[in-house]
Amino acid sequence: MKFLITGGAGFIGGHLTEALISAGHSVIVIDNLSTGSLDNLRDVQNSNNFSFIEDDILYSDKLNEIIEKVDFIYHLAAAVGVELVVNDPIRTIETNVHGTEKVLKIAAKLNKKIIIASTSEVYGKSNKSSFSENDDLLIGPSTHSRWSYACSKLLDEFFAMAYFRSNKTQVTITRFFNTVGPRQTGRYGMVIPRFVSSAVKNKTISVYGDGSQTRCFCHVFDTVRALIKLSEEDNIAGKIFNIGGTYEISILDLAKKVIELSNSKSDIKFIPYSEAYEEGFEDMMRRVPNVDLIKSKIGWNADLSLDEIIKDVVNSSE
Ligand SMILES: NC(=O)c1ccc[n+]([C@@H]2O[C@H](COP(=O)([O-])OP(=O)(O)OC[C@H]3O[C@@H](n4cnc5c(N)ncnc54)[C@H](O)[C@@H]3O)[C@@H](O)[C@H]2O)c1
Repeated sequence: MKFLITGGAGFIGGHLTEALISAGHSVIVIDNLSTGSLDNLRDVQNSNNFSFIEDDILYSDKLNEIIEKVDFIYHLAAAVGVELVVNDPIRTIETNVHGTEKVLKIAAKLNKKIIIASTSEVYGKSNKSSFSENDDLLIGPSTHSRWSYACSKLLDEFFAMAYFRSNKTQVTITRFFNTVGPRQTGRYGMVIPRFVSSAVKNKTISVYGDGSQTRCFCHVFDTVRALIKLSEEDNIAGKIFNIGGTYEISILDLAKKVIELSNSKSDIKFIPYSEAYEEGFEDMMRRVPNVDLIKSKIGWNADLSLDEIIKDVVNSSE
């Protein structure tokens, strides 16, 4: 099959491109290299089945022509990462709303199947023990820019559902929970690469808040496996799937685990959220996915453990 991956030079997109090419598919990547990098595509750059277009989905006049050529689209291009979102909310909203609108409109017109990347952030401040796709969503106020990421992705979801209902567009939403693995950059506040990067240099690890907030992590290889399996499945249009690991760990215990698994001499310091992000920053205490739906649809759940994830990130950072 022939795939288009918007944002394919990013962390998840690079791994997805590699996996699709290894499986014998053709891939076109369009990326403006804002947070992505050609290094993420180094292993496929010489493949005859691969082509790269450096362009911004917001302004590109080639999208129509590219989408005409493919069978399936993964729309991953987005402004990503809490730090980036807090520091540049206008770019976040424009990229995530108008970028998706543009890609979705062309996919609908040309009758192409598309998966749109959304996020566990849309569950917001809900304190449910685990989040299911049909749960109510509890977003914070618009005076806190961190919520612009969740809201922009949520608007993408509404757009997608509207296209499915009105036009029968074959669009599916995947809500990624924290996805981690080799090559993820810590520059935009992603926690595991940030911790590992400090640990391997024996530098102090900064834990935001008191570290009691918990998270679940999923190896990017597991995420990519889910994305490819979904593309092979019929009857996924108009559906939303959580994709995430279900092993829950506090951020303080995560810091300790990273120190242990990297044989580091780092110490840990706590930084208030107001200093790490912005005054009044609101964090979620827990974020655990319920993955029953994707399990029942394609038999997927995350295979790789947190120890394996951390070891992979440590090894790739050396
Ligand atoms: N990594 C995670 O834990 C996670 C969690 C939830 C959701 N997601 C979603 O998954 C997708 C991929 O995330 P990622 O972690 O690989 O992040 P990433 O930043 O590595 O990838 C995003 C890619 O999109 C590109 N991009 C951004 N704006 C663009 C534009 N206007 N035109 C063209 N390209 C553009 C960037 O250069 C980058 O390569 C995103 O949609 C993100 O919101 C990721």
